[in-house]
Amino acid sequence: MSVRRLAEDQFQPAAFAFNAENAVWAEKTIMKYPEGRQQSAIIPLMMRAQEQEGWVTRAAIEKIADMLDMAYIRALEVATFYTQFQLNPVGTRAHVQVCGTTPCMLRGAEGLIKVCKSRIHDHAFERNADGTLSWEEVECQGACVNAPMVVIGKDTYEDLTPARLEEIIDAFAAGKGSEVPTGPQIDRVFSAPEGGLTSLLSDEAKAKSVAGKAKAAAEQPSTEAAPEKGEAAKKPSLDDKDRPAGIERPAQPDDLQLISGVGPKIESILHELGIFTFAQVASWHQAERHWVDGYLNFKGRIERDDWVRQAEALAKGGEAEYIKVFGKKPR
Ligand code: FES
Repeated sequence: MSVRRLAEDQFQPAAFAFNAENAVWAEKTIMKYPEGRQQSAIIPLMMRAQEQEGWVTRAAIEKIADMLDMAYIRALEVATFYTQFQLNPVGTRAHVQVCGTTPCMLRGAEGLIKVCKSRIHDHAFERNADGTLSWEEVECQGACVNAPMVVIGKDTYEDLTPARLEEIIDAFAAGKGSEVPTGPQIDRVFSAPEGGLTSLLSDEAKAKSVAGKAKAAAEQPSTEAAPEKGEAAKKPSLDDKDRPAGIERPAQPDDLQLISGVGPKIESILHELGIFTFAQVASWHQAERHWVDGYLNFKGRIERDDWVRQAEALAKGGEAEYIKVFGKKPR
């Protein structure tokens, strides 16, 4: 249980007022409640104040209490009880709320927190140098099926890897947060299964899916990731701008099969593309990963297996670093 206090006086502005648009909205919101129950509007009004100012100031709490004819202590109780209210200034471009509850923790939330510590600040609620970013760990946000996830503002970013979260943080830091797609960050529609439906299919599609899976299982007994079967897959062009840059085969290429999901067949395709080293894989941005994923018809497998993080560890310190990061030997 955290202790939630108002920000120090030095951060508190002298006064608060809703801007013109929000003032009209607040009046309408208060009128939605039956006579004598106007105080029930406190939560929406406080949220609107937070959206306007970035956080909930003492002046805002007192102003809203006055508007609703409440004792200040009652409004303070609400502000300090609900953790969605930020009682201190947070990043002006993004306050990243990382879910650390069990499903997200089991699916890699700790890696996301490491990213926040390295890219924003070592401590939660502290802002980065230019005051644009901050972060905190929060409890379950109700998107467990797409764990791990973060919330920024009113949006969720799900099915994350550390590499993808870094890209999202970079976008917000550059003022381009609105360009980042919200929701699942892999090939998933809302909370449907990864890679497409597996149930509630038409009989024909069901038969195709079962036959396709049986065939794939028979053909792929190893741990190597199998390209998805059954659907017409359109390979991206080799001339596409998102194709990762290839290199000449070095005298001693890295053993790409140490990356979970890469077997002999996939390794030879990567070689054909000029991919021979862990460092190359570790440097892939989202567009490049998406291109390779499409080329291999993997439907999100590269993100799910987190090739970039695996390759980063292998490039940095080989098997020893991999064991340090993942707690097990590669493959
Ligand atoms: S545990 Fe993270 S969203 Fe539920």
